[in-house]
Amino acid sequence: MQDIDLLIINASQVCVIPGPSGPQRGHGLGELGLITNGAVAVHTGKIVAVAETANLQARYRAMKTIDAHSQAVIPGFVDPHTHIPWMGDRAAEFEQRIAGATYMEIMAADGGIMSTVRATRRATHDELVADNLPRLARMLQYGTTSAEAKTGYGLDKLAELKQLEAIYRLHQLQPVELTPTFLPAHAVPAEFHGRTEAYVQVVIEEMLPAGAVWAKEHDLTLFCDVFCEAGVFDVDQTRRILEHAAALGYKLKVHADEFVGLGGTKLAVALGATSADHLVHTPDEDIAALGAGHTVAVGLPGTPFGLAEGDYTPAKAILDAGGALALATDCNPGTCWCESMQMVMALACRYMKLTPAQALVAATRNAAYAIGRGDNIGSLEPGKQADILILDTADYRQLGYRFGTNLVHTVIKKGQIVLAPG
Ligand code: NIG
Ligand code: FE
Repeated sequence: MQDIDLLIINASQVCVIPGPSGPQRGHGLGELGLITNGAVAVHTGKIVAVAETANLQARYRAMKTIDAHSQAVIPGFVDPHTHIPWMGDRAAEFEQRIAGATYMEIMAADGGIMSTVRATRRATHDELVADNLPRLARMLQYGTTSAEAKTGYGLDKLAELKQLEAIYRLHQLQPVELTPTFLPAHAVPAEFHGRTEAYVQVVIEEMLPAGAVWAKEHDLTLFCDVFCEAGVFDVDQTRRILEHAAALGYKLKVHADEFVGLGGTKLAVALGATSADHLVHTPDEDIAALGAGHTVAVGLPGTPFGLAEGDYTPAKAILDAGGALALATDCNPGTCWCESMQMVMALACRYMKLTPAQALVAATRNAAYAIGRGDNIGSLEPGKQADILILDTADYRQLGYRFGTNLVHTVIKKGQIVLAPG
């Protein structure tokens, strides 16, 4: 008998979400490695073993045992695309959009992202942290145990660094682990109106080096992301920013094809980006590139839903091409204020035609690869970090099928129970 910290027993289903090494690609998406009457053994924050209950009970003696009778057990959700932290809200723009204004029209009139930039620039570091902590607490309640967090509401050197500092502090203060992304090329700030190229030069010459110094001081690798979109940053500007970022040691991401398919996805693949995100209006040749490359395609179905638009990420075409597909919330105050990966799964099943099993893998294993953390999180394989959800349902398929109800019962992060009823 081996002594361990924690044993979860009698789970109706344990969804292991196994390899091959790397994300599940193409039509291989949706392999759950389902164990009925399953158990999970945890020690020193890691998964030690996953098997049927009788098997693990014969091998391990645990300090604490959780009986997960009639409950499914899955990996913690990984949300690989959020715009946390921000300040303020854009409820007035939501009303304008209901009345017929488009997102890009509001942005062109100095609203949209710029209105959140103004609020975020005004905030102190402490205000930014205090305002975003409850947001992360809600994400945890809905089962997200790791997330990406972007700058992009500073758009000048100091305000972008303030956002990085806030992400760092938020990571330290609560259980949801944050992977930081530097996004000074999220919009052209008002003071550079009509001078996009001048702003691109500032991003390249001042902001990227400042972010790289910050990353070195904090001993971490930063992602760099660009909003590659008609009327924002074109493909050539995106390429130049990302090439400079790569030379400074950043890993890469791209906001591509959200409104217009410019070629941002093909560029992401060519540059070896970790992920290309949104991918709503993605040209066929870019979809083919995803199938041949290593860049993970991140679908954000909360965004077209949030904008009340009809087009969603063409998941079938991406899977037919052999691409690796992940899901994320895009949590932001403009297009999609949604903290719940369960809601995202429900939308992906309906509008991207994923099965619940495919959506679950896209929201866990593949999402972890979309932030470069696939070796540590996103599945319940032995050796991985013990980030585990015990659900309030015996059948994992209720994720996707049901929506608007929180199906998470218990959240375990690095082997510790961080959220439980009562
Ligand atoms: O991913 N499109 C660019 N960025 C966000 C929206 C940010 C905002 O509107 O504040 C997005 O949809
Ligand atoms: Fe986004």
